[in-house]
Amino acid sequence: MRLLVCGGAGFIGSNFVRMRLRENGDQVVVLDKLTYAGREENFHDFAEDPGFRFVHGAIEDPQAVAGALEGGGSGPIEAIVNFAAETHVDRSIAEPDAFVRTHALGTYVLLEAARERDLRYVQVSTDEVYGSIEDGSFTEESPLRPSSPYSATKTGADLLVQGYFHTYGLPATICRGSNNYGSYQYPEKLIPLMILNALHGDPLPVYGDGMQVRNWIHATDFGRAIGHVLEHGVVGEVYNAGGPDECPNIEVVQRIIELTGADESLIEHVTDRPGHDRRYSLSSEKVRALGWEPRVRFSEGLEQTVAWYRDNAWWWEPVRSGDYRAYYERQYGRSLA
Ligand code: NAD
Ligand code: TYD
Repeated sequence: MRLLVCGGAGFIGSNFVRMRLRENGDQVVVLDKLTYAGREENFHDFAEDPGFRFVHGAIEDPQAVAGALEGGGSGPIEAIVNFAAETHVDRSIAEPDAFVRTHALGTYVLLEAARERDLRYVQVSTDEVYGSIEDGSFTEESPLRPSSPYSATKTGADLLVQGYFHTYGLPATICRGSNNYGSYQYPEKLIPLMILNALHGDPLPVYGDGMQVRNWIHATDFGRAIGHVLEHGVVGEVYNAGGPDECPNIEVVQRIIELTGADESLIEHVTDRPGHDRRYSLSSEKVRALGWEPRVRFSEGLEQTVAWYRDNAWWWEPVRSGDYRAYYERQYGRSLA
């Protein structure tokens, strides 16, 4: 297929592009604003691929979107896959503006561009739109009860996509993933933050009692689910893609300590995140019925992820010595080693 992948310089988007180029033989144009989380380093092993083109621009900029859609290549773009987002809950609590702009205005601009050209559209979304669940798992029919500025604005974007399907017949689908982990994830998120802190002997800041539960999916499994929804999903439908394993945060941190050989005394319970969702859990029966299933169990994927960060200092050193240090100090009230 010929795809426009928005937000393809980020963690999940770049993993998705790599797989689509190598496994599907797609032609891919990436449109990305290169926020702190978007990095051209994430293209290092496919930047020269003849099927790949990068356009630097924002999804809320109609000219940039038109330029990315019409900039040549072997034929017209057939589908837009939208990963572009502000993605960190803690940043959404501190500074929600960019979340509103990118998720509301940006999604609107992309939907208009897809409508004008009658393109297939996939919105990449999150389990956080359903809020927290004590027991059982959310299905696609569960009520939407987002609890942070991040999840509320992601929910708004999902509703706008559904509005374009119902009103204009836009051939759109939505794919909601659970917590992703794997290579190339920016170290503000739990797993890479804990791995890099453990490797450096920095304290491991666990929010509250650490008994919050997340449903972990490897980014390659989520990318394949999105590909399945793109190719086989029924337009107008939502598909959940949850990982095979759930784990309380404190156990994730303990496993990272074992895998890195760090000292358990590095664990530090810190003030909890305001409005912190206790548990996320997704039922993925609907996307499994399309023929998808996750391939990577959490224990194996976590081991591979720790090894990747240990072996790829070239990727994280510029991050850890750049703006991320100032973010870390603001968020955690202490400096990194
Ligand atoms: P990320 O923060 O690593 O990457 C986001 C990318 O979007 C970056 O490359 C950034 O530069 C780009 N971007 C941000 N605003 C933009 C704008 N206005 N215009 C163009 N590009 C812009 O995020 P990620 O973890 O790869 O998440 C990708 C998508 O998957 C998001 O939509 C997110 O909501 C969703 N998701 C993430 C997770 C997770 O656990 N990380 C789980 C489920 C769903
Ligand atoms: P995070 O990676 O921010 O993803 P999300 O908020 O989208 O689930 O956080 C995952 C879990 O880890 C969440 O319960 C918050 C917790 N957490 C910590 O305990 N300490 C930290 O430093 C971070 C970043 C997260």
